[in-house]
Amino acid sequence: MSPFQLTRTLPLDATGAALRADVLAGLLHSPKTLPPKWFYDARGSALFDEITTLPEYYPTRAEREILQTRAAEIAAATGARTLIELGSGSSEKTRHLIDALADLHTYVPVDVSESALTGAANTLIASRPSLNVHALIADFTRGLALPGTPRPRLVAFLGGTIGNLLPAERSAFLASVRTLLSPGDALLLGTDLVKEESVLVSAYDDGSGVTASFNKNVLHVINRELGADFDPDAFSHVAVWDREHEWIEMRLRSLVAQTVKIPALELAVDFERHEEMRTEISAKFREEGVRSELAAAGLKLTHWWTDERARFALSLSVAR
Ligand SMILES: C[S@@+](CC[C@H](N)C(=O)[O-])C[C@H]1O[C@@H](n2cnc3c(N)ncnc32)[C@H](O)[C@@H]1O
Repeated sequence: MSPFQLTRTLPLDATGAALRADVLAGLLHSPKTLPPKWFYDARGSALFDEITTLPEYYPTRAEREILQTRAAEIAAATGARTLIELGSGSSEKTRHLIDALADLHTYVPVDVSESALTGAANTLIASRPSLNVHALIADFTRGLALPGTPRPRLVAFLGGTIGNLLPAERSAFLASVRTLLSPGDALLLGTDLVKEESVLVSAYDDGSGVTASFNKNVLHVINRELGADFDPDAFSHVAVWDREHEWIEMRLRSLVAQTVKIPALELAVDFERHEEMRTEISAKFREEGVRSELAAAGLKLTHWWTDERARFALSLSVAR
């Protein structure tokens, strides 16, 4: 096997077809909504990486702290020979895990962003030339066809990305992850934790406006891919804490009454002045909630680790 393989499991037009379907359904919905996976073209992935370095964005630092502290324990508990990472992005923090997994044979990063996958694989191969990297361009919500690599498997889902799924999507997703696990395999899940509102809101509304650019990037994607005429300057970035659902909502607020044309959908969409469109939720968790969502999917939580300030948690679970 060559050290790097890139497999596209999405058919070539699947991205376009899925984008058209999601944009049509989301813009006809009331209130309007768009799924967060469309942020991540090459520019969106680069903006997300920039977000992870911002002083306000604590989740990456907190999760890295746990990985640095606990990687040896995770390696001892799992003995993983294959590490599958869902929504792997830059794979930057994952290196702590890769370095600790002494018997690791293959790393399988899975992402919708081809630019993120190739960038991460190139960096990894330069520093770990003997590691097999089998990158998959795939949508982790749509069932995965994984390569036949040695077990045990460790499936990692880091960055708190699970919080971007709505509760019903989360349970379907966890149930599908459960089907990937045989006895001896494990799931390593990163969840951001409920905390003070001001800390949460600042993490999604930074002072330098990088998160605002990231949020508006979805409009650039729709303009480019579907020929739409969204004016990103006619929208403002909004981040609010929904106390009832315990999630952050990112929205785009139309600054004026306007009509946006989307030729690929033969659609013209009206926005009222100050109308808000939801572009992302980021749910925050508590230990009991994580444990019971895992249990509902047939998974048993075996370890729960937090950073020193208990801002973020990593949990390890196995099939029951
Ligand atoms: C919040 S970022 C986290 C990146 C990285 N895991 C980290 O912890 O920094 C989410 C990542 O998941 C990817 N992603 C989002 N939705 C996806 C989906 N449905 N299928 C596959 N990848 C997805 C994005 O392209 C992005 O790289």
